Amino acid sequence: MASIINVNLPQQSYEIAIAPNSLDQLGEQMTGLNLGKKVLLVSNQTVLKHFGEKAIASLKAAGFEVAICTLPIGERYKTLNSVQKIYDTALENRLERSSTMVALGGGVIGDMTGFAAATWLRGINFVQVPTTLLAMVDAAIGGKTGVNHPQGKNLIGAFHQPRLVLIDPGVLKTLPMREFRAGIAEVIKYGIIWEAELFAQMEGSKRLDQLRYLKAELIDTILIRSCQAKADVVSKDEKEAGLRAILNYGHTIGHAVESLTDYRVVNHGEAVAIGMAAAGQIAVELGMWKKAETERQDALIKKAGLPTQLPDGLDIEEIVAALQTDKKVQDGKVRFVLPTQIGVVTVTDQVPSDTIRQVLRGMR
Ligand code: NAD
Ligand code: GLY
Repeated sequence: MASIINVNLPQQSYEIAIAPNSLDQLGEQMTGLNLGKKVLLVSNQTVLKHFGEKAIASLKAAGFEVAICTLPIGERYKTLNSVQKIYDTALENRLERSSTMVALGGGVIGDMTGFAAATWLRGINFVQVPTTLLAMVDAAIGGKTGVNHPQGKNLIGAFHQPRLVLIDPGVLKTLPMREFRAGIAEVIKYGIIWEAELFAQMEGSKRLDQLRYLKAELIDTILIRSCQAKADVVSKDEKEAGLRAILNYGHTIGHAVESLTDYRVVNHGEAVAIGMAAAGQIAVELGMWKKAETERQDALIKKAGLPTQLPDGLDIEEIVAALQTDKKVQDGKVRFVLPTQIGVVTVTDQVPSDTIRQVLRGMR
C-alpha cells in the first residue's frame, strides 16, 4: 500500500507520503523539493539505534550533507534547553536559510525540530519522518511546533509547516506497546470528532491494544483516514481560527493531567484518553450527548488498553486551576470540545466548573 495525502494550504502545500520501506527513500523523496544541500537530522538515541543508519544512508545517497543532533528522550525534555542544543548544532554545521532540518522520531522530536526550524535564521525548511503511531497520525502533520513551559504544556511555539511528511509504517514494529496505544488514543479522537466510520471499524476489531493483533487492512485504514482527517481540518483552518480547535478534543483535561504529574505518570496519548473520557461525561451531564455513546467511546478506549480514570493522587482543585493555563482559554473562560454524536463535536466555553469537578470526582 502506498498513499499520498495532500495538505492544501494557501502558502505552501505539502504531501504526506505513506509507503512501506519509504525510509530507504527519504533522500530521494526530498530531492526536487528545493531543500538545499545541508541537512540536520534531529533524533534521539533509541530512534537512531533503530533507524539512524537507514535514514542517513538514504540522505547521503541523494547527495545531502548530513549533520546529526541527538536529544534526550522524553516529554520532560521538550524544553527550550533541548531546542538550544539544536541551534548549537545548526551553528556548528553552518546551517543556512536554504538548509533543512529533518525530524526522525515521535511527536516530542517533531515538535522541537519544527520549532527550531521555525526560528533558526527566522525560518528554514523542515521534514517530518514520524516513527510513532501518534506522530504519524497527528503530531507530524499540520505545522504546530513548540515546547513546554514549566507551568504548562506547549505554551511556547510557532506554526511552521513541514515540506514533506514521510511515513514508513514498518518502523512501528519496534515501537513499545504503550506507545502504540498512545497513538490509538488520537485515532479514537478522529473517530469521535470527524470520522464515525473509522470509529465503527475500530469497534469491529477484536483487539486494539497491540499492533500485532490488528489486521493489515485496519492499520492501513487507521493511517490513511487519520492523516486524511488531520489534513482536511488543517487545510480548512491552518492557524486555528475556528474549526481546528476540534483537534484538541480530550486535550483540555488531558494537558492538565500530563503537566500536573510532571510528564512522568501518563504519556500524551494516555492523557488524551483520560481527557476524552472526561469530555464525554461532561457532554452527557450537559445533556448534549447520549450516555450510550459515551459508553461506546469508553469501551473503545479500554479495548485499546488506555485509561479512563485519573491517575492516583491528583487533586481535583489543582486540575480545575490548571485548566486556566490552557492555550484555549479565551477571556478567562476554558473552552471544551464536546461530542454531540460520534463523528460530530462542538466547541463551548459554557461548562460550569462544578460540572467539571463532579465528573472528575467520578473518575477517581
Ligand atoms: P514521544 O515522541 O515521546 O515518543 C515516545 C517514545 O517512543 C520515545 O521514548 C521514543 O524514543 C520512542 N520511539 C519513537 N519511535 C520509536 C520506534 N519506532 N521504535 C521504538 N521506540 C520509538 O511521544 P509521541 O507520542 O510520539 O509524541 C507525543 C508528543 O507529541 C507530545 O509532546 C505532544 O504534545 C505532541 N503532539 C503534537 C501534536 C502537534 O500537532 N504538533 C499533536 C499531537 C501530539
Ligand atoms: N493536535 C492539535 C492540532 O494539531 O491542532
